[in-house]
Amino acid sequence: MTTQALLKQLYDTPETDIIEQIKALKAELGDQVLILGHHYQREEVFAFADVSGDSLKLAQKAAETDAPYIIFCGVHFMAETADILTSDAQTVILPDLAAGCSMADMANDEQVSRCWDELSSVINPDECVTPVTYINSTASLKSFCGEHGGIVCTSGNARRILEWSWGNREKILFFPDQHLGENTAVVMGVPDSQMIVWDPELPLGGNSPEAIENARLILWKGFCSVHQLFKPEHADTMRKNHDGIEILAHPECSREVCETADFVGSTEMIIKHVAEAPAGTSFAIATELNLVNRLRLQFPDKPTWFLSPMVCMCSTMFRTDPQHLCAALSSIKNGEITNQIRVPRQQQRWAKLSLERMLNLG
Ligand code: 13P
Ligand code: SF4
Repeated sequence: MTTQALLKQLYDTPETDIIEQIKALKAELGDQVLILGHHYQREEVFAFADVSGDSLKLAQKAAETDAPYIIFCGVHFMAETADILTSDAQTVILPDLAAGCSMADMANDEQVSRCWDELSSVINPDECVTPVTYINSTASLKSFCGEHGGIVCTSGNARRILEWSWGNREKILFFPDQHLGENTAVVMGVPDSQMIVWDPELPLGGNSPEAIENARLILWKGFCSVHQLFKPEHADTMRKNHDGIEILAHPECSREVCETADFVGSTEMIIKHVAEAPAGTSFAIATELNLVNRLRLQFPDKPTWFLSPMVCMCSTMFRTDPQHLCAALSSIKNGEITNQIRVPRQQQRWAKLSLERMLNLG
C-alpha cells in the first residue's frame, strides 16, 4: 500500500484506534526505533516521544543514539541535523515531509553566496568573519558555515557560540534569525553601533562599506513567523491585569519583547524556569502555543497564560499528527521506508563539522 493510501485509511479510522496502533507498533519495534519529539509538538504526538527536548537536546540525542531508525517529530531542519549526526547505517524519518520551517527558508544558497561575494568587495570575510548559523537552517547553510570556519548555534547555547566565534575572528555573520543574534548580543553588552542588519534583497545588504567595516555583528534579516507575533504591549496588558506576573520569552521574539521580559531562554530553559519556580508564581509566556498549554496542565499550581491575545501556533510543527506517526512506524515494520531524510553527501562533511564544533563546546 502506498503512504497516501495508508494515510487515507488512517484518516478514516477513529483516533483512539490509531493511538492503540501506535502503542502496538512501538512495543513491537522496541529498541529499533527512537522517537524524538520537539516541545512544540501537539500533545497526542508528544506523548509518544522517547526523548523530548529543545533543538539542542534533540541534536545531542541524535548524535548519541545507535537506534537503527529515528522518527523525528519536529520539522525538516531537525531531521536533517539528525541525519548528519547519525551513521550511514541509521535511517531518519520525518513523518510529514511538508513540516518545514519558514525561517530556515529565509537564507537560501544563492543569497548566502551573493552576501559572501559582496562582503568580499569590502573586507576579506575568510580572514575576519565567522559565519554562525542558527540550527533552524538548511543543511546547505550549515555546510557553508563549516567550510568557512563557522559553527552552528541553538537558542540554548547562542551566547557561548558567539563568544567562541569572536574569539576566532573579529566579526560574525549571523544567519538566519536576526532576533536570536541581536537579543544574544544585547545581553552580552554589544552596542548598537557595532551591529548591522543584512537584507538579502538589497545591494551590500542595505549597508554602506563603512558600516560593514565597523560592524562586529552582521545580522541576517530573517525571523520566525510565530514568535514575531508577540508584542511588548501584550506584556504591558498582562502586567496590568495580573499583579506580580512573570513574563517569559523565547529569544526568537523581537528585541522589544525580550527587553521587557523577566526571563529569556530556549524552550528547555523556559520549562526549567517554570518547574523550579515556587508554587503560586504566575507566568505569561511568549513562545509556541502547544508548549504553553502543556506547561499550564503540568503545573496547575502556577497559573500560566499565553502572552498574546491571538493564537501563535507553528503550523508546520502541527503537521505531525498521530496518523503520520502511525504511518511512519508502519513503514518501518513493513520494511518499506518512506519519508526518509537524506542530506546529500557533498553537504554532509562540512555541515557535520559545523555541528560538531557546536556540540564539542558542550
Ligand atoms: P528551541 O528548540 O531551540 O527552543 O527553538 C524553538 C524553535 O523555534 C524550534 O524551531
Ligand atoms: Fe520555524 Fe518558528 Fe516554527 Fe520554530 S516556531 S519551526 S522557527 S516557524
